[in-house]
Amino acid sequence: MVTRQFPKPAELLELMQFKKPELDARKRRLDAALTIYDLRTIAKRRTPKAAFDYTDGAAEGELSLARARQAFEDVEFHPDVLRPAESVDLSTEILGGPSAMPFGIAPTGFTRLMQTEGETAGAGAAGAAGIPFTLSTLGTTSIEGVKAANPNGRNWFQLYVMRDREISYGLARRAAAAGFDTLQFTVDTPVAGARLRDKRNGFSIPPQLTLGTIINAIPRPWWWYDFLTTPKLEFASLSTTGGTVGELLDAAMDPTISYDDLAIIRDIWPGKIVVKGVQNVADSKRLIDAGVDGIILSNHGGRQLDRAPIPFRLLPDVVREVGRDATVMVDTGIMNGADIVASIALGAKFTLIGRAYLYGLMAGGRQGVDRTIAILRSEIERTMKLLGVSSIAELEPRHVTQLQRLVPVSAPVAAAASAASAPRAARSAGGTAAKTAASSAGKADAAAPRAAKPAASRAKA
Ligand SMILES: Cc1cc2nc3c(=O)[nH]c(=O)nc-3n(C[C@H](O)[C@H](O)[C@H](O)COP(=O)(O)O)c2cc1C
Repeated sequence: MVTRQFPKPAELLELMQFKKPELDARKRRLDAALTIYDLRTIAKRRTPKAAFDYTDGAAEGELSLARARQAFEDVEFHPDVLRPAESVDLSTEILGGPSAMPFGIAPTGFTRLMQTEGETAGAGAAGAAGIPFTLSTLGTTSIEGVKAANPNGRNWFQLYVMRDREISYGLARRAAAAGFDTLQFTVDTPVAGARLRDKRNGFSIPPQLTLGTIINAIPRPWWWYDFLTTPKLEFASLSTTGGTVGELLDAAMDPTISYDDLAIIRDIWPGKIVVKGVQNVADSKRLIDAGVDGIILSNHGGRQLDRAPIPFRLLPDVVREVGRDATVMVDTGIMNGADIVASIALGAKFTLIGRAYLYGLMAGGRQGVDRTIAILRSEIERTMKLLGVSSIAELEPRHVTQLQRLVPVSAPVAAAASAASAPRAARSAGGTAAKTAASSAGKADAAAPRAAKPAASRAKA
């Protein structure tokens, strides 16, 4: 039997404590996003289909990306109990410098397409949060513009080595002069992956207006207002002749890049060099032996070879092979701070986020990127506290089990050809030896004729 009474006015009043409404629509929108997937939903609503799909999409059937995200979801954490973790320290050291959290922003091409603030928002937000920002060769803000947006923080530069080598070398020299401390040499793009969404959308650079794009623009007036009232959208470091992203990549990339290029870049670049896009244990070992400062296990966010190995899954084997002291980083599929915690526990020194940052950018410019970082920070912090861990260094493999879904029928044959094709730089131990190998083999000279290519071919890149 329930006893009933008249509601008391004082109690009713207590229930009616309405919060002051948030008048800033952008803040209201962003505060309502509790996860990176929430930011993705807002981003989709606010961004024209072709630009959203260019960002959100991957290659072919998009299996690599889906598998990478699934692998993070298939993690089981093992917490310790009765271990006080009232405050947690998320800071770490990476490539000779500090980072306030164990992740940085990955290089992304054509970022002002997603939202007009582009790389400036990313670099500014990264600087404010104390984490590194990476500018892509295919960026839409200049090297100097990124430095101005993040004058006191860490900026990294991602290099595509192009057919016209001198363009790439020139960019590396400019980034070094602007104080960028780390170079990411991307090696997983001998040719462009098949981004089918871009083909289906007729997406090109610069974007072309069609009846479809105009209809799609109607509910997204702010993006178009930004697009039409801000400086022209173009690559800040390259001149192009236009075309689909795939065509541009194919025109610019050189499928013949090799370890010899790595040795040449070593001579040009004074800071740290990491190789991005490493996808097996043998290459990881060879690169670390060749003296690179670090490797990034990555399949380019699933945008290149579909069904490529899942970088997070490679991590334990790679770390076992190269040792826990080597700088192994990982990206692809990170959508939650817990994904970052799991990666660090399994031996990654650092992680990179691509789309998670871009969803924030599309959802709300600089404030949106701040929100991405805040969401990831709180997820990392909470996961660590729940694990009973109070610093990054305390995370260990025993905290994580990767649950198995896709089981290989047999292990891949260890890169048999690798020994035969082992390049000079790889055979010599240590970075200095790699440098010597390249110059004594006259490879710097070999690059010279390419460097002297006429300006016409440059325009094509
Ligand atoms: C829109 C977009 C553009 C990208 N452009 C580049 C690029 O120019 N250079 C590069 O090395 N990687 C590029 N990447 C790959 C990212 O650096 C990173 O490896 C990938 O996004 C990680 O996966 P995630 O998006 O699931 O975090 C791009 C990724 C996206 C989503």
